[in-house]
Amino acid sequence: ATGALFDARQRPLRDLRISVTDRCNFRCSYCMPKEVFGNDYPYLPHGDLLTFEEITRLAKVFLAHGVRKIRLTGGEPLLRKNIERLVEQLAALRTVDGQAPELTLTTNGSLLARKARALRDAGLQRVTVSLDALDDDVFQRMNDVGFPVRAVLHGIETALAVGLAPIKVNMVVKRGTNDDQIVPMARHFRGSGIVLRFIEYMDVGSSNGWCMDEVLPSAEVLARLQQHFALVPLQPSAPGETAERWGYAGAHGQHDPALGEIGLISSVTQAFCRDCNRARLSTEGRLYLCLFAERGYDLRALLRGGADDAELASAIAAIWQGRHDRYSEIRATLPPETRRSARRIEMSYIGG
Ligand code: GTP
Ligand code: 5AD
Ligand code: SF4
Ligand code: SF4
Repeated sequence: ATGALFDARQRPLRDLRISVTDRCNFRCSYCMPKEVFGNDYPYLPHGDLLTFEEITRLAKVFLAHGVRKIRLTGGEPLLRKNIERLVEQLAALRTVDGQAPELTLTTNGSLLARKARALRDAGLQRVTVSLDALDDDVFQRMNDVGFPVRAVLHGIETALAVGLAPIKVNMVVKRGTNDDQIVPMARHFRGSGIVLRFIEYMDVGSSNGWCMDEVLPSAEVLARLQQHFALVPLQPSAPGETAERWGYAGAHGQHDPALGEIGLISSVTQAFCRDCNRARLSTEGRLYLCLFAERGYDLRALLRGGADDAELASAIAAIWQGRHDRYSEIRATLPPETRRSARRIEMSYIGG
């Protein structure tokens, strides 16, 4: 089977997010709180991880099903040894239209200055860097390992210098923790060519102790920004995009591309499941159809059981065609027990 594949809600499969490690050198409270992810946390043993060859084989099958964009995530993907070799293998693949897939990576930036050039040379096109504050005290409290802001900024600058662009910066906003950083972050990245995106704090996984009081709705983020900057709404650049785009206006009230844009990712207050075209492959080769899924489909068992590409392709087709997931749309209607289900996957396991 080749070409577009649609799920039970007529959503095509376009975006494949591959987690390459469940480890991270940060302990962000909203993702890998220290109390849960301590020294004795049972990370996946090495033999459970998909090898680069296995990942590449699966990616090839996904591309034949219409995937156009591949994103590497983690945990922290740059902790995976020789990650640039994987990038090289993925960059050699082609979409059904014969194009190179859009190849990108989400990172906390800590190892970016060291790795940016090798990643670019291997064929990575761009990066998205997580950064939750410009103030060191706030940032270090959030990453909980004392990592300084300037090292992340240095990583971003290096990525920009080697041409891993356009660069996006993701800021998870927690009310009462870093919401005072919204305007300073906007001011810092305005006019830099970097797209800053504000993410509503989500109830992913079961270890971050999420509660609605700590969510700052995007509408409020926008209102705060509008007290300082003139912003105009922009059209989405792709169907199923996670972020709502707003451009900085110039003197005549029109978007000024030189000033750039920001994004609002509002999965709590304005779900974007309707066009969700994202599949997620875990570090150990399970296919998840939603960030909030409770189970994944074991593709590694098929791979290691000797399935050929055609068998892999039809298994993936059947899984995607049966997809109904739309968690963020129905969140509010679910009973609290379901929302707190301990079986839910962690962000560090599946990546953003
Ligand atoms: P680009 O816009 O192409 O850079 O990618 P993206 O927005 O798909 O990827 P990124 O990893 O930067 O995602 C940003 C954040 O949006 C993630 O960290 C998540 O917090 C959130 N997000 C991404 N995809 C989904 C999704 O399918 N569902 C929900 N609820 N949140 C998502
Ligand atoms: N809510 C929203 N975003 C989150 N991320 C991690 N955990 C959460 C959460 N609970 C973000 C990270 C990173 C991306 C991979 O996911 O900050 O930008
Ligand atoms: Fe690591 Fe990113 Fe999770 Fe923070 S959000 S703990 S940087 S994977
Ligand atoms: Fe897609 Fe699930 Fe996120 Fe909705 S909640 S946008 S279906 S991953």
